[in-house]
Amino acid sequence: MEDNKKLNIVMFPWLAFGHMLPFLQLSKRLATKGHHIFFVSTPRNLKRLPNIPENLAPLITLVPLPLPRVENLPPNAEATTDVGFSMGFDLLKKAYDGLQDPMKLFLENSVTTYPLDWIIYDFSCYWLPPIAEKLGIQKAFFSVFGARMLTILGPLSQDNGPAADSFTNAEFLTTPPPWIPFPKSTVYFLPYEDFFSDLIVVRGCLELEGEYLQLVDKLIAEKTVLPVGLLPPSMEESPEDEVHNSIFGWLKKQRSGSVVYVALGSEVEPSQEQLTELALGLELSKLPFLWAFRRSTGSSADLPDGFVERTQDHGLVWMSWAPQLKILQHDSVGGFLTHAGFSSIIETLMFGKPLIMLPLMVDQGINARFMVEIRVGVEIPRNKEDGSFTRSSVAQSLTLVLKDEAGKMYRDEAKKYKPVIANESLHGQYIDKFINHLINYKFET
Ligand SMILES: *[C@@H]1O[C@H](CO)[C@@H](O)[C@H](O)[C@H]1NC(C)=O
Repeated sequence: MEDNKKLNIVMFPWLAFGHMLPFLQLSKRLATKGHHIFFVSTPRNLKRLPNIPENLAPLITLVPLPLPRVENLPPNAEATTDVGFSMGFDLLKKAYDGLQDPMKLFLENSVTTYPLDWIIYDFSCYWLPPIAEKLGIQKAFFSVFGARMLTILGPLSQDNGPAADSFTNAEFLTTPPPWIPFPKSTVYFLPYEDFFSDLIVVRGCLELEGEYLQLVDKLIAEKTVLPVGLLPPSMEESPEDEVHNSIFGWLKKQRSGSVVYVALGSEVEPSQEQLTELALGLELSKLPFLWAFRRSTGSSADLPDGFVERTQDHGLVWMSWAPQLKILQHDSVGGFLTHAGFSSIIETLMFGKPLIMLPLMVDQGINARFMVEIRVGVEIPRNKEDGSFTRSSVAQSLTLVLKDEAGKMYRDEAKKYKPVIANESLHGQYIDKFINHLINYKFET
């Protein structure tokens, strides 16, 4: 109706950087079109976000809400990366629930001064939609996971879908949902998500997961499901500092496509056995490698004795923050050994590089199997019962994807995705459609 209307939009991501960063990407894209964003998180999380470009700063208001302290939650812990997944998730979830009153207060105060048109929120805040509803704010649930996770959740209505309690049944969680008509993916599970929203927004595009997006649209027929594109990150300007020089100086000396980049993200906690097999497999492959190694707070696992010394002629273990996007872009990097987080996958395919995947938690297994399905990489073979894997399977997977003739297929297929993922105008069109919907929604319903 009024297509040049400027909206006020509240963003409220879960306390994990794998969520805050896609929410921030989405915020920047909306702000670029002149909409005002109120990005709500905790003070320390907001401080750790990448700098907001100067031209967008007036349109992205950071709203710090101090995180209520919860017993056993370490001081200063405000994101999953501060506590580790296994011990910290429940504590953080409890603290996050404690944001209910401050959030309510913020929203109530805001609407007395200016209208809030939409709130875009994450999974795990079941209490937010009723508050927004009361204040007349439209609600959108944003799935940073992509369409595959939603197809696994299945239909909303119990007539065609499983009863809610089947979601807690282990057998149900690990067998293919009966309503997925194409027999492809092989492992399934379900997070808790709610569907009180007016709109479901998915980080995804038809060009990558069209089949799944169409299926989600059918399964959740009661709601509008909108893809917002993949939100590929923009190359942040980073200064030519010391970090830059040592990493890129080293990369420059390596042959084109020869280096395996290794990073498991900051939340994943591999066990000592997993880390040992991974490191020794990497060593066994003899491939040059750059390993961004950051031990998660909740983990005590370390690299095996002597590993760094034995591999220093062809490997670089980098123990602090690494500029992942620029590393992946570098011509020497031939593949990424990754935990298969969705953002890492998008960043890899953006540069047409293949994946060697070791999924360790939440949606990563689903992501990895999907990438195997589209033949842009392999999953390190593992024991189906206990998930264990060996150094030789690590070495074989790496050599296959980076080097062997038999693995050329993965390298070729990955290259084909570059024009899709890196296509700014394609992803821009998704954002435009999304904004159109946000503006016109009220008038349609
Ligand atoms: C990028 O996407 C647009 C819109 O879908 C399309 O017209 C164009 O051909 C794409 N560009 C490339 C390089 O694939």
